[in-house]
Amino acid sequence: MSRPLIAHIDLDALRHNYRLAAGLAPDSLSVAVLKADAYGHGAVSCAKALAGLAPMFAVAAIEEAMALREAGIREPIVLLEGIFSADELALVESLELGMAIHSDWQLEAVLAWRPARPVMTWLKVDSGMHRLGFSPDRAAAVWKALKAAPEVVGDLHLMSHFATADSRDDRYFAQQREIIMALAEQLDAPLCVANSPSILAHVEAHGAINRPGVMLYGSDPLEQANDASQQLSPVMTLRSEIIAVRELGAGEPVGYGGRFVTSAPTRIGVVACGYGDGYDRHAVDGTPVLVDGQRCRLAGKVSMDMMTVDLTDMPQADIGSEVVLWGRSQAGTVLSVDEVATYCDTISYTLLTGVLPRVPRRYNGGHID
Ligand SMILES: Cc1ncc(COP(=O)(O)O)c(C=O)c1O
Repeated sequence: MSRPLIAHIDLDALRHNYRLAAGLAPDSLSVAVLKADAYGHGAVSCAKALAGLAPMFAVAAIEEAMALREAGIREPIVLLEGIFSADELALVESLELGMAIHSDWQLEAVLAWRPARPVMTWLKVDSGMHRLGFSPDRAAAVWKALKAAPEVVGDLHLMSHFATADSRDDRYFAQQREIIMALAEQLDAPLCVANSPSILAHVEAHGAINRPGVMLYGSDPLEQANDASQQLSPVMTLRSEIIAVRELGAGEPVGYGGRFVTSAPTRIGVVACGYGDGYDRHAVDGTPVLVDGQRCRLAGKVSMDMMTVDLTDMPQADIGSEVVLWGRSQAGTVLSVDEVATYCDTISYTLLTGVLPRVPRRYNGGHID
């Protein structure tokens, strides 16, 4: 018998979500974003599950690409932030990677380089995110410099990233889109701009290449769900069990700092999952969890290895009862990671990427990583 906390990863759901992303943009090539260990789901297992479906993968850094290559992944892989130092170009060549170019020092290094084969390159333009990329004023000159080096630069795309594609208010999104579209038209350049919210809600931003990330894992990034986002299926189920039960009278504090105080006789269940597993300590009292498939509420601060839930309305729940922190219960009920994130004043991305290595990942009820 071991600690019952496991992150169950449903690779069929991952494939379903990928098909949804690709189906929403039939004229685009959908590159599966596998950075941050596939948003906490295990990049190698996810890449293998998507083999034959996704023609290309994207990661944040060369170490992530290397791990995929070492596991035998042969599909093209693009570095979303490009190289971090010029000496990485040797690995870009030997691992046969593509890369973004977002700044002058990268441009210089790339143009001075003589790879055996031209490399797929995404020229990153700052259309308004103000994070990475060349300014729109500079982008045309950089595009031309890259085009003039066909021995180095293979397939060239114009890349940008939207700051507010998930928002109900699409004014800033439209502004960014106009900037990048005008540039694409001027340069006759193929576009790579759409992330999950743009794929789900902005067909006008679909380009030659799209970059779905969080939607592949079943999370809906949109401020307001739409028909497409409602078809997403959760990939990770973070599942544990009740390991102890307490019967308390009224007026009793529960957990660190006594944040939760019982207002009536209360049945408290202790769950094997805490912030030492990556569950967010900012979760407020009332954060939903599923016990035996039924919604109940967090009661008290999350501890390192445990948390406490109110089982007063669930007299049948006991030691060994299933607890789902997010995902799908064995009874089939779903608690979305997006909903849990709102109770933690965060987004699904941080919860999913935050599940720590001590939590075993089990894939489709089979192998454990
Ligand atoms: C450059 C880039 N493209 C695509 C993605 C995928 O975004 P999402 O997970 O919202 O689909 C990200 C994620 O942060 C990103 O940084």
